Amino acid sequence: MTAVIIDGKQQAAQIRELLAAEISASRIKPVLAVIQVGDNPASQVYVRNKHKAATEIGMDCRVFHLPETADEVMLSELIANLNNDCDVNGIIVQLPLPKHLNELRILSQIAYYKDVDGFSPYNAGLLQMNNSDAVVAATPQGVVELLNASLGSLTGKHVVIIGRSNIVGRPLADLLLNQNCTVTVAHSKTVNLPELARQADILVVACGCPRLVRQDWVKPGAAVIDVGINREDGKLVGDVDFEAVKNVAGFITPVPGGVGPMTVAMLLKNTWQACLKQHSQS
Ligand code: GUN
Repeated sequence: MTAVIIDGKQQAAQIRELLAAEISASRIKPVLAVIQVGDNPASQVYVRNKHKAATEIGMDCRVFHLPETADEVMLSELIANLNNDCDVNGIIVQLPLPKHLNELRILSQIAYYKDVDGFSPYNAGLLQMNNSDAVVAATPQGVVELLNASLGSLTGKHVVIIGRSNIVGRPLADLLLNQNCTVTVAHSKTVNLPELARQADILVVACGCPRLVRQDWVKPGAAVIDVGINREDGKLVGDVDFEAVKNVAGFITPVPGGVGPMTVAMLLKNTWQACLKQHSQS
């Protein structure tokens, strides 16, 4: 058996096309502010991709690049200015931040209705409470979009998520619970991880461990979603041993071209929705 390859690149392109058409018809120019602190090489690439994708759909993307040495006062001032700027609809702070900055304190300062990454405690809390006003983090939202498109209803599925980060594992667990899945969150201290993974109807891997998941970790026919983006000798590899696992899985996402493009598309969607909400309330 060979798995169906889930084409995230194509699904993301469709979403961006729809957004472009809506934005063009509305004659509103949504504005996304991206704050980058320092020169983390991966962040540079992600910010460039977001800027390009936003510009292509008719969104204004303003990048604020602060030096590695920026302190919390500088960041707070910038966030306050962007919160008060009626032209700006969405604000994101590219993570990771340099070690000397307190991530939670900084993310908490973004106005909840402009928090298009959904990383503030307010939006994370709304999601946990299954409240439809929550702005949902882009990567978990992209994962669920891909699963819904391939499998339809997820009700009753056993999902094993490997990884418990605030930006993927935890919000994804909330989202899938809200879709009536039975969710197990595994992490670096989990015992018998391969055995647990083999019980999954849907296995999502978001731990940043290159090729961690082997063929014998996967139940035949299961859907395997690889959130990992690891750089090895200039090449991108996921957290799943794709070439081996595709022989046993029912569905699988490639790296690159799986979850990655969906993350960007969902960020743009969140920004457009925030923009529409702000216009309807002004
Ligand atoms: N770092 C890794 N993923 C993300 C993301 O989705 N948003 C932001 N702001 N930073 C990230």
